[in-house]
Amino acid sequence: MQSRNDNATSETIVFDSDDAGLAKAADILAHGGLVAFPTETVYGLGADARRSDAVTGIYTAKGRPSFNPLIVHVADLAAAEELVTFTPQAYCLAQAFWPGALTLVLPLRANAGISSLVTAGLTTLAVRVPDHPVAQGLLRAFGGPVAAPSANPSGRISPTTAAHVVASLAGRIGGVVDGGACGVGLESTIVDVTGDPILLRAGGVAAEALETTLAHPLIRQSGVATITAPGMLASHYAPQGTVRLNATQARAGEVLLGFGSVTGDLTLSASGDLAEAAANLFDRLHQLDAMGAVAIAVAPVPEHGLGAAINDRLRRAAAPRH
Ligand code: TXA
Ligand code: MG
Repeated sequence: MQSRNDNATSETIVFDSDDAGLAKAADILAHGGLVAFPTETVYGLGADARRSDAVTGIYTAKGRPSFNPLIVHVADLAAAEELVTFTPQAYCLAQAFWPGALTLVLPLRANAGISSLVTAGLTTLAVRVPDHPVAQGLLRAFGGPVAAPSANPSGRISPTTAAHVVASLAGRIGGVVDGGACGVGLESTIVDVTGDPILLRAGGVAAEALETTLAHPLIRQSGVATITAPGMLASHYAPQGTVRLNATQARAGEVLLGFGSVTGDLTLSASGDLAEAAANLFDRLHQLDAMGAVAIAVAPVPEHGLGAAINDRLRRAAAPRH
């Protein structure tokens, strides 16, 4: 089953996540087109990672600076091994956390066949095996590596529902597979495992869990990163309104986004549950945009576990805009 979005400017098809929908979505990818699809973290905007013409489309649709490399999604470890050279620590993390919300940066194999637009000319590749039945179904139906950044215009809030994707990218992409709301709600954690593991981006797998598995601390990259990542740009993840952090009550004109005992006008998690807050974060920011909130105050969120990634995204949302 498929239904055409009736927006007059839109040629973007919303596919059901059944076999027929996945086959049609895979066919768009096979023809060099763009398809957004759910993963457990956020919706990705997929293209055939081997085709520069297809990958160019991602950059165009997102309005993304072309120097930012993309994550390649594959169905399993064996498919990842065809693209990159695994280090012992990479195997250790892959075995523990794949499929899942973890992206590994590893040396690109010479014959991997990945478009240089995906790596932005780097000699490394970011790879991930997503843990979502629809993402898995699409990857298997397509049968190749899929480059996919989050399916939002560059600098805007990441999408956690098909409706979020349609609202910002309709008419600019071939289709979106509707797989409901994303369970994790934050982008994957990115670790460079080409040498001693470096945490490049906090995300859906808590750094503490990685460190427990590795049995040693991750190197934390701070300040100006040597590799430019859009998630590292200060004003990434921005809603339309201004954002003030660590607020326990709203000031005049502000809408308060609560957490735990700070009730707010809407809340990340009334019970103070960090996993629930992560899953809700981008949807609440989209809601605040839809409400026309011009000033947003956000309750304090603890810094441990998934709180580190939530606070990372909130700090970027609060940063001065470019
Ligand atoms: O959860 C996620 O990771 C989602 C879903 C769709 O998988 N994808 C996502 O992609 O967040 P994107 O493009 O928004 O973020 C990818 C990040 C960027 O910060 C990029 O710079 C970094 O991965 N990256 C990609 N290749 C890299 C490489 N070779 N070395 C270092 N960082 C890299
Ligand atoms: Mg993104």
